[in-house]
Amino acid sequence: MADSAALSENLLAQPLRLPNGSVLRNRIAKSAMSEALGSYDNHVTPLLPRLYERWAESGIGLLITGNVMIDRRALGEPGNVALEDEADLPLLQEWARSATAHGTQIWMQLNHPGKQSPKGLNHYNLAPSAIPFRQDMTAFFDTPREATPGQIEDIVARFGRAAAIARKAGFSGVQIHGAHGYLVSQFLSPHHNQRNDEWGGSAEKRRRFLLAVYAEIRRQVGAEFPVGIKLNSADFLRGGFTEEESMETIRALAKAGIDLVEISGGTYESPAMTGLGKPAASTAAREAYFLEFAEKVRGAVSTPLMVTGGFRSYAGMKGALRSGALDVVGLSRLLAVDPDASAALLRGADSPCQVRPITTGIKLVDRMALMEVAWYARQLKRIATGREPRPKESGLLAFLGTVAHSGWGTFRTRRLRAS
Ligand SMILES: Cc1cc2nc3c(=O)[nH]c(=O)nc-3n(C[C@H](O)[C@H](O)[C@H](O)COP(=O)(O)O)c2cc1C
Repeated sequence: MADSAALSENLLAQPLRLPNGSVLRNRIAKSAMSEALGSYDNHVTPLLPRLYERWAESGIGLLITGNVMIDRRALGEPGNVALEDEADLPLLQEWARSATAHGTQIWMQLNHPGKQSPKGLNHYNLAPSAIPFRQDMTAFFDTPREATPGQIEDIVARFGRAAAIARKAGFSGVQIHGAHGYLVSQFLSPHHNQRNDEWGGSAEKRRRFLLAVYAEIRRQVGAEFPVGIKLNSADFLRGGFTEEESMETIRALAKAGIDLVEISGGTYESPAMTGLGKPAASTAAREAYFLEFAEKVRGAVSTPLMVTGGFRSYAGMKGALRSGALDVVGLSRLLAVDPDASAALLRGADSPCQVRPITTGIKLVDRMALMEVAWYARQLKRIATGREPRPKESGLLAFLGTVAHSGWGTFRTRRLRAS
């Protein structure tokens, strides 16, 4: 079959028009992966444009950046980029240019970690309510302070300001990180948000923070600029955010004009986003973790949907698109081991690389899920410095290398950055 005929039959290669008129050149998106490539004081470095240029060269439709923090006093991980003003504008412009030069869109993921930030990284952490972590996590996470109404309004304004700077720098869109147990997700959760003022109490009031963040971003960037969200289908915690509430939240966002909803799930306390939590029973048969929920959402709103978590094979992605449950396939770990995977998938072929569990063989380390994040960060750094990733790199060697390079303390701080 001629290449062009193969391309036109490949569902992954079809363009997608978003509600605001902007077009994704195809259905493959890199979902956010925290790069840990910011400077020690959380500014953009030239490594970021280089990393994104490599991904863009593969022909991918959409690149979503790793989470960028909207307040440098509230970091989620060492090596985050924090965006509060225009100090980094030239490098941000280079980042956007390197990603969009081949027709790919790049959206900046905006985040505030709330309570989910490891001990020692920030002076203190704010959250909707001062609810402690589960007992076995208190060694790594402090109990947060309850944010005052004034602090909440400041955070809302910061999301808007960061989005405006992203737009000015040439990014194609922004994504609100509303998943994985960070601040937006904390406000939505009846477990983490036990406020009795206008920011909590009922499900509707718990949604108010997210809708305020969305409205402020929209006010700052205008109607034409794509604004998306990554949202949990559920956080898989007793007394937490449920599928029913997630559905209501999506309905409210659709009504407000969101351009793309990315579905994920889980938190540090139950990391379903990387397949470690409680994915649906049918997951083994259909490689992606959150397809069943996506099907329900599809019946409720007409907003374009992206699903991330577990996609590995061309057949799995094609089948999911053909089912009609989603419009965009989100990939993370596969693109860290094979930055060219999109080119293969767009040809209707599988990547020659495989995502495999990362283990060291040291029980203590593996039990703490230490390796995965540090291992992937090493691969991203290799790509950013012009080298090829090492898909078969030993977990143990990567672990020892990281400890030798940064010391156990740094490694320990990073270890809980599941998302
Ligand atoms: C190293 C690493 C960093 C991640 N950083 C983020 C992040 O900054 N924001 C986010 O929304 N998800 C983040 N994730 C979660 C991924 O976007 C994705 O939801 C998850 O890896 C499942 O997709 P996959 O099976 O294709 O890897 C991260 C995952 C990994 C492995």
